[in-house]
Parts: sequence; structure tokens; C-alpha cells
Amino acid sequence: MLSTLLLPLLVGGAARAATDLSQYVSPLLGTTGGGNTFPGVTRPWGIIKLGPDLDSGTDAYSGYLSNGVFTGFSLTHESGTGGAPKYGVVSQMPWSGNITNPLLDLTASRTVADQASVGYYLATLNTSTTVELAATEKAGFYRYNFTGAEETRNVVVDMSHVLPSFRGQGLGQNYIAGGIEVFADGHYEANGTYDNGWNRSPDWTIFACGRFNQLPSSMPVFIGTGTTLTAFGQSTSANGTDRLGAVFTFPSNTTTIESRVGISFISSSQACTNLDGEITDQTTLDELVNGTAQAWNDEIFSKITLPNATDADKEILYTMMYGAFIIPSNKTGENPLWNSGEPYYDDTFTLWDLHRCATPLWHVLQPTFYEEYVRSLIDIFRNEGYMPDARSSFFNGRTQGGSNADNVLADAYVKGVRGKVNWSDGYAAMVKDAEVTPVNNDDPQAPDSSTKEGRGALPDWKQFGFITPTFSRAVSRAVEYAVNDFSLYQVAKGLGNTADAAKYLDRSAQWRNHWNPASSSLNFTGFLVPRNADGSFVAQDPRYCGGCYWGDAYYEALPWEYSFGAIHDVATQVNFSGGPEVFLNRLNAFFAPGNNPSNSTGTSQFNFTLNNPSNEPDFAVPSLYHFVGRQDLGVAQSRFVADTYYFDTSSGLPGNSDAGAMETWWLWNAIGLYPLTGQTTFLIHSPRYSMDIDLGSGKTLKITVEGGDQHTAFQVQSLKINGKDWKKNWLTYDDIFERGGTMEFVLGATASTWFTDGQLPPSPGAPGIAPLNITTS
Ligand SMILES: *[C@@H]1O[C@H](CO)[C@@H](O)[C@H](O)[C@H]1NC(C)=O
Ligand SMILES: *[C@@H]1O[C@H](CO)[C@@H](O)[C@H](O)[C@H]1NC(C)=O
Ligand SMILES: *[C@@H]1O[C@H](CO)[C@@H](O)[C@H](O)[C@H]1NC(C)=O
Ligand SMILES: *[C@@H]1O[C@H](CO)[C@@H](O)[C@H](O)[C@H]1NC(C)=O
Ligand SMILES: *[C@@H]1O[C@H](CO)[C@@H](O)[C@H](O)[C@H]1NC(C)=O
Ligand SMILES: *[C@@H]1O[C@H](CO)[C@@H](O)[C@H](O)[C@H]1NC(C)=O
Ligand SMILES: *[C@@H]1O[C@H](CO)[C@@H](O)[C@H](O)[C@H]1NC(C)=O
Ligand SMILES: *[C@@H]1O[C@H](CO)[C@@H](O)[C@H](O)[C@H]1NC(C)=O
Ligand SMILES: *[C@@H]1O[C@H](CO)[C@@H](O)[C@H](O)[C@H]1NC(C)=O
Ligand SMILES: *[C@@H]1O[C@H](CO)[C@@H](O)[C@H](O)[C@H]1NC(C)=O
Ligand SMILES: *[C@@H]1O[C@H](CO)[C@@H](O)[C@H](O)[C@H]1NC(C)=O
Ligand SMILES: *[C@@H]1O[C@H](CO)[C@@H](O)[C@H](O)[C@H]1NC(C)=O
Repeated sequence: MLSTLLLPLLVGGAARAATDLSQYVSPLLGTTGGGNTFPGVTRPWGIIKLGPDLDSGTDAYSGYLSNGVFTGFSLTHESGTGGAPKYGVVSQMPWSGNITNPLLDLTASRTVADQASVGYYLATLNTSTTVELAATEKAGFYRYNFTGAEETRNVVVDMSHVLPSFRGQGLGQNYIAGGIEVFADGHYEANGTYDNGWNRSPDWTIFACGRFNQLPSSMPVFIGTGTTLTAFGQSTSANGTDRLGAVFTFPSNTTTIESRVGISFISSSQACTNLDGEITDQTTLDELVNGTAQAWNDEIFSKITLPNATDADKEILYTMMYGAFIIPSNKTGENPLWNSGEPYYDDTFTLWDLHRCATPLWHVLQPTFYEEYVRSLIDIFRNEGYMPDARSSFFNGRTQGGSNADNVLADAYVKGVRGKVNWSDGYAAMVKDAEVTPVNNDDPQAPDSSTKEGRGALPDWKQFGFITPTFSRAVSRAVEYAVNDFSLYQVAKGLGNTADAAKYLDRSAQWRNHWNPASSSLNFTGFLVPRNADGSFVAQDPRYCGGCYWGDAYYEALPWEYSFGAIHDVATQVNFSGGPEVFLNRLNAFFAPGNNPSNSTGTSQFNFTLNNPSNEPDFAVPSLYHFVGRQDLGVAQSRFVADTYYFDTSSGLPGNSDAGAMETWWLWNAIGLYPLTGQTTFLIHSPRYSMDIDLGSGKTLKITVEGGDQHTAFQVQSLKINGKDWKKNWLTYDDIFERGGTMEFVLGATASTWFTDGQLPPSPGAPGIAPLNITTS
């Protein structure tokens, strides 16, 4: 319940209009318990993500922690990530009292929990200081109130501040160099260069331009190494690898200091232009908060309206929508590497997480953004040689499995995204992934092949049709490469390239080469296992994945889980498993408590099921019931996961948000559909409540729900689509999204045989196998 969090502060005391959907959002959702979401201030896809940076000796992936001490309030963050922190650069920290050495890491703790609402953040420090934050796309706004004894008031700008990493994986960020110049009018222009972080990036540089609402009484620059101050107040500009910043001091009777800071990746003069174009010396904090809330309402929240839902329903739905659109960051016009006139998006973290549920949702809710994003992926290929699976600080990396941008492009292609997308370049980008092994970037966690981009294990995939243990993550990469090749098939077919289509359809079946029919677990036989160059299978208990990490055969999921991973070829999974009845039992075993004995991540909190709702590989598994005629069980399992492991509390996500991937899984569950990325198929689940979805260009998808209850009586009794009785448990993009449409559900407590004719969902990766008919009950 939202009431377990502090209620959002109503800035300016104004009552919120009913149409202000931002009032239902709690940005603190998912900030604890591993969700790692960013609770600070940002506009949709904004470059600025202004929030607190805390230190408690553990990695603060979004800067925020619910405990520890504040080390600063910085302008750049990621949201919902794991691995290792990135950004937390360009910070300010308020301080009362004389500062003799700013390198002594001034910190403060909280006296009360931070408050956050859309567009506004408040931290109350134990130094009798409050910090209020607001923002626009490229500029941030700080208001410091000092309520303690009259001492000098200071704001410390530390260009050497980054989010540290404590995990010891060699993925900590480094401050490399910087410069700061303080001007007589009290403004500063600065730059900082950093490297590393989760994506192992080389040096990248950010520029800042900051102004205060009053003239500082002094503004010494500081330079130092460790805690040894080598220069303080002796110069107005400095550079080098020493730690670097400036202390802006104000009279001791000052009660409020406001600062506004713009950033750029091009130059400090561009940072000043960005600042002054978005926040002037007349702009108030209240105006900025209003502007940000309005931007979220207009661009994001208003896309889904709930004509007949409770406030509690609205709180979780709009909070999930918020979490889904914080990153990537729209850095169009701010790309320091090339200027092509194409859109540029950074902070994809990562498509491994996002390609399943997030990108198909971006497509239907945000077609303009989505087309820009797809163009940006292709433009990165044009200028750097490969599309990213992940990208931040203008650098591709890291790639956990396949080249999943291929799936995103295929999804866009088959659903008719054209606009300004250059599909011949798009397909060339996909072919590059499928054919050209990327140069090894010598990642110590997986030294066998590239983790930067592309498909590191291509040599085996092409030579053997499977991936040998020469390569790390051999089995999980094989499953993903098969899906990627299916994506090439889809686009090749659409472009009329029949030779390529045939070739990639064949390659998309190569996941089958890892299937060991003799491998058994819990009375089921046939699992995906590692395979040697001589064709022999490696013995592998399907309930264990070793360390389940970069150097292992399976990445972050068990053989059981990856054995359900060939989403384009479910008919073959069913056949290999022993037919529909056995496949059904296998799914039941997957969701049954107690079948997971392993040490793999997070099993106890999920009742030791083989299903792991905290990570993306299992997102589609509940929907596999649809392929054997048990839509009711698919609905029941997915609604169980959604209602048992997702809440609108700070710890309300089952795992890392992963840039909003988790939130988008929940949102599809609420809508009552599951998208099969790279295909036009959507599997029909059960909507939580009536909703109107604005698809853009005047199109609407209107979903109505009659009867039932979202938590206890959510089985479909009947469905009409566009006014006609619907008897299949799936539909295509064309049916309801292409021109808009209506879906009229009647829900009830017990399973019904509402889908009584028509075939079960297609398996386009197995064109030789007709989809099953409804024989299983
Ligand atoms: C702070 O510095 C001012 C000016 O140098 C000095 O007058 C004052 O005594 C100092 N306060 C403390 C507590 O050291
Ligand atoms: C900070 O001070 C301003 C007046 O300068 C006031 O309007 C605002 O409410 C104060 N903020 C907090 C958190 O107390
Ligand atoms: C960073 O700032 C310093 C000091 O103003 C300046 O000398 C240096 O050229 C700047 N670096 C870049 C990359 O612009
Ligand atoms: C530092 O300044 C010197 C000259 O003042 C310049 O040559 C050098 O490139 C600068 N270094 C950095 C890292 O900005
Ligand atoms: C602070 O004190 C100075 C002089 O002591 C005075 O001129 C100024 O108005 C005061 N400022 C505030 C905000 O009270
Ligand atoms: C922003 O301010 C305008 C003008 O006062 C108002 O109509 C609108 O409702 C406000 N938006 C939000 C989200 O508070
Ligand atoms: C509105 O929701 C209630 C409770 O979920 C339900 O009983 C009612 O039928 C719904 N009304 C409409 C018009 O959808
Ligand atoms: C991305 O940024 C560019 C440049 O500011 C802007 O023109 C474009 O509309 C933005 N895209 C979205 C989806 O907001
Ligand atoms: C496997 O089969 C045996 C023999 O039929 C049975 O005793 C056992 O309970 C089964 N185990 C599972 C997990 O279904
Ligand atoms: C479980 O983890 C412990 C400690 O990491 C390890 O010693 C043990 O072998 C693991 N057991 C299994 C079955 O993987
Ligand atoms: C855990 O499993 C037990 C049965 O073994 C079941 O009663 C309980 O509801 C389950 N709880 C969750 C959260 O899955
Ligand atoms: C399902 O039914 C259709 C039409 O009767 C038939 O063409 C198809 O072969 C059947 N599929 C299977 C797997 O039996």
C-alpha cells in the first residue's frame, strides 16, 4: 500500500486536479529490496536524473539507498540496474560551517525518510539543512534551506565525485580528469572525465554550468590527492587528475540558497545554453515541479486511463508506468561522437532485459519515441559498427547473451514501423550481428569473447550449429542466438530476401542442438545442456547452473528455465518434451513450490519454485500454457506472480527493475496480454480492470471488464473483439493495435472453455509443425 510510504508533498499546497495522474505515483517504488530504481527528479527520458547519492559500504546503483550517508546530490543516474553503479557525476553538497579541507568527504545522514513525488525530491539532513530538487531535460535545480546556528553556508561542487562500487568485480568507475573555472559573477563552468562502470567504458566527458541565486562571498577552487589538499583558494581554474572542485561560501545569516546547473556532453558553453534555455533566474521550484509533473501526465500517464478503478489501482499502475520510462535517456543533440541528424538515445540498460516486455510496450504507448529509439540503434551501428545490447556513456556494453537489438528491430518491422527508419540499414545491422564476430574486449569476467557487442560465440554457432564450452554462457547464448536468428528471418522475409530468410530460419532451429533427450530432472526428460565439439553432451543437472554468471554455461537462470527459452519455436519444445500432456505437467512442475533445490539467486523468497520471477528469462513462461490449450493456467500463474511479488511499496519489485523491464511485465499483466517479441502474436490473459489505451494518431484500444475481480475471479468467461465473439487465446497486432479496437471481457471465478475453436498460438520458428488444436484439457 502506498500509505507505507510518506505521502508525496504537495508543493505550493495546491490541490491536485483529478486529471493530474502524477499524484498517484510514488517514485520510491522499487528503491529497496534490490529494485534499485531511481527516485530522484527526471522528465520522461530526460538527460538529467537529479537525486541523492548515498554511501553505506554497499553499491548504490541509482545513487539512492534507504540508509547510509549522503555524499552529494548529483545530476546523472541510471534506474533499476544491477552489476555495478554508473554515473552519479556533477554533484553538489551543502555544508554549514567553515570548510578547511573539502577532500575530507563531507557527509550527512537523514533525520527523516526522503520524500519524493513526480518532479520533486526532498532530503532532510542531520546538518539542519534541507535539500529540495527539481529539474528539466538538461538542467537541475537545487534549493538548500539552512535552519541551524548561523555559520558560514557552503555548497561544495565536487567534479571528482562518482558512485563507487564495493563489489570487487573490477567495475568501479574512476574519475580521470577534470576542470573547473569560477567566474567573478559567481557562476562556474566545469568538466569531468570518467571511465569504467558496469559497461567497462573508456573515458567519457561531461560539462556543467552552474549558477547561484546570489553572489558567493568566496569561491575557492580545490585540488588534491586523497585527503592531501594541494591547492585551495589559490587559483580560479585548475585541471588534472587530482580531485577537483570548488567551495561556494555564503554569509552565515543566509537561510536559502538556490542553484541551477545545466549539463552537456558537447561543451561547457553548451551546458550554459542548455541551462539558460530551460531554467532562468526567474524560474521557481514550484514552476519546475509543475512542468515535470505535467510532462509525465501529457507524455506518459495519459496514455492509459482507467474509467472504473480505485485509487489503489491507479497508484500501482501509474507508478509502474513511471518506472518504465526513466531510461533510456534522449541525448539527441548531445552526442559528442558524431552528428548525423538521427535521434540519439543512451542508457540502454539492457536490451537483454528490455526486449521481452518493455520494447513492445514502448511501441504501442510511445510510437514516436519508439521509432526514434529504433533509428538510434541503427545509427549507432552506422557509426560504430554494431548496435548495442546495452549502452551507457556513449559506449556499447555489456552483452550478456545474444544480440537482442535484432529482436527489437524484428518486432518493429513485423508490426509495421516504417516512418523514417531506414530498413536496409536496419537489416544490415542485424546481418552484422549474425555474421561478424566482434573483436574480443578481454572482459576479465568472460575472457573468451566479446562482451561489448554483437555475438562473441559466433564462430561455434556457425561452425557446429551449437556453442561449445570454449565459450562462456554457451547454452544461454545459444538459446538467445536462435531467437536472434529468427528475428533476422522475420525481417529478411519481409524485405523479400528469401535466401537469407531460409538461412536464418534454419539457424533459428539450432537451439535444438543443445537438447539432450536423455537429460532428466523431476521425472521429465530432455533439457538444454552444454555440448562438446565432438557432439557429446556434457552431464548437467537441469536444476543447477553453477555460478549462473558470466563465466558459466547458463547466465542467471537454470537449464530448466532456458529449456523454455525458444519462444519462436514452442511447438518443438512441446514435441521434444513428449507432447502436450507432458509439457503441461512440466509447466506445472516449473511453478510448483519446492522443486528448486539450488543455491541460485533468490529461490527461497519465491518458495523454491524453478520459476524465478525476479529476472527476465522466465517472463514468458506462464504464457506457454496457452500453447497447450490451458490459457486459464497461464492466467492463474501470471496473476499469482503479479499479486504475490509486486506491490507499490519501496520493496515492491521482485528483483532489479532493470531499466523498467519488471514494471513492463506487470503492465502487460494488467492490460491482459503478453507480447511475443519479433512476432505479431499477443497471447490473451486477463485485464485487471477496464482501460482506455491511447495508441497515438487518434487510435484507441478500449478494454472493458464486466464481472469478476482482479485478485480472485479473473478467469475469462467470454471475449468480444471489435464487437465480435473471439474464440482464440491469442490475437495479432493487426486485430487491435494497427487501427485501434475494442476488447470486451466477461470475467469470473472459474475457468471456462471460452476459446472453443481456432488453432492455438503459432510457432513460426517451426513452420513444419502445425499449431496444436485444442485437445488438452
Ligand atoms: C570560520 O572562519 C571565520 C573567517 O575566517 C572565522 O572568523 C571563524 O572564527 C571560523 N569559525 C570557526 C568555528 O572556526
Ligand atoms: C525552504 O525555504 C523556502 C523559503 O525560502 C520555503 O518556501 C520552503 O518551503 C522551504 N523548504 C522546506 C523543505 O522547508
Ligand atoms: C576542462 O576545464 C578546464 C578548466 O576550465 C579546461 O582547461 C579544459 O580544457 C577543459 N577540458 C575540456 C575537455 O574541455
Ligand atoms: C591541463 O592544462 C594544461 C595547460 O594548462 C593542458 O595542456 C592540459 O591538456 C590540461 N589537462 C587536462 C586534463 O585538461
Ligand atoms: C545578512 O547580514 C548582512 C550584514 O550583516 C546583511 O546585509 C544582509 O541583509 C543579511 N542577509 C539576510 C538574508 O538576512
Ligand atoms: C501546472 O500548472 C497549470 C497552471 O496553473 C495547471 O493548470 C496544471 O494543472 C498544473 N499541472 C500539474 C501537474 O500540477
Ligand atoms: C466497475 O468496477 C466494479 C468493481 O470492480 C464492478 O462491479 C462494475 O461492474 C464496474 N463497472 C463498469 C461500468 O465497468
Ligand atoms: C528527443 O530529443 C529531441 C531533441 O531535443 C527532440 O526533438 C525529440 O522530440 C525528443 N524525443 C522525444 C520522444 O521526446
Ligand atoms: C517421479 O516419479 C516417481 C515414480 O512414479 C514418483 O514417486 C515421484 O513422486 C515423481 N517425482 C516427481 C517430482 O513428480
Ligand atoms: C551451494 O553453495 C555452497 C556455497 O557457495 C556450495 O559450497 C555448494 O556446493 C552449493 N551447492 C550446490 C548444490 O550447488
Ligand atoms: C508456498 O508453498 C506453499 C505450499 O508448499 C503454499 O501453501 C504457499 O501459499 C506458497 N507461498 C507462496 C508465496 O508461494
Ligand atoms: C488442427 O486442425 C486443423 C484444421 O482441422 C488441421 O489442419 C491441423 O492439421 C490440426 N493440427 C494438428 C497438430 O493436428
